Amino acid sequence: MRLERVAAQVPVGARLADIGSDHGYLPVALLRRGVISAALAGEVAVTPYHAAQRTVRDNGLEQQISVRLADGLVAIEPQDGITAISLCGMGGETIRDILERGKARLSGQELLILQPNGGEQPLRQWLMDNGYRILVEDVLRENRFDYEIIVAARAEPVQYTAQQLFFGPLHLQVRSPAFLGKWQRRLRQHQRTLAGLARARQTIPEHKVQELTQQARWISALLEQGQAL
Ligand SMILES: C[S@@+](CC[C@H](N)C(=O)[O-])C[C@H]1O[C@@H](n2cnc3c(N)ncnc32)[C@H](O)[C@@H]1O
Repeated sequence: MRLERVAAQVPVGARLADIGSDHGYLPVALLRRGVISAALAGEVAVTPYHAAQRTVRDNGLEQQISVRLADGLVAIEPQDGITAISLCGMGGETIRDILERGKARLSGQELLILQPNGGEQPLRQWLMDNGYRILVEDVLRENRFDYEIIVAARAEPVQYTAQQLFFGPLHLQVRSPAFLGKWQRRLRQHQRTLAGLARARQTIPEHKVQELTQQARWISALLEQGQAL
């Protein structure tokens, strides 16, 4: 379901670079459905790289999907003419670091389709700092995890507030049941963490306690406001 929701964000006819592709399921499924015209699957680790090669071979898609053993965006060459990049199933900080290290490989024309497992705030911060606008935000719950999907493209500079970076600017407008459900659960986690920190106060930096307290306030306020009009 998670990868299906990611797949729904990939434009028809795209030339997709799926970085951290693991088994290569996303590019293979999209090519089989005729959604994309070509793809590359990038992997930094040998075992998933071989798994992606196998999936591509088993589906007879070697002509359309190139599987490359490479760290992050190093897998992408200018002649690939990539129009969309997916980075899914990694921490938001890892996705941010891959984008930061690979900046020189970005033409600025690619749609970024990101599915961070946590760390959304630093990822949104990177997008804002690097001239990207968030076009779509989605969240889904599967196997007791809340997965976020962020689609972004280079655009006019945009300034997001601290709360927009924390919750997601579009989520804050729409306030879907899945989004509110995620933050209901997060509030309980925050409260448990803060109660634990109160007991161990000496060993925890004060700024960390303040940050968590601030976030718990934001979440409470969000949930009190409830559904958007
Ligand atoms: C948990 S899997 C997610 C696979 C798939 N994208 C998905 O969403 O189901 C993360 C994959 O990213 C790969 N990965 C992590 N860092 C990477 C990097 N710097 N460059 C390329 N691949 C990376 C890992 O080897 C692993 O196979």
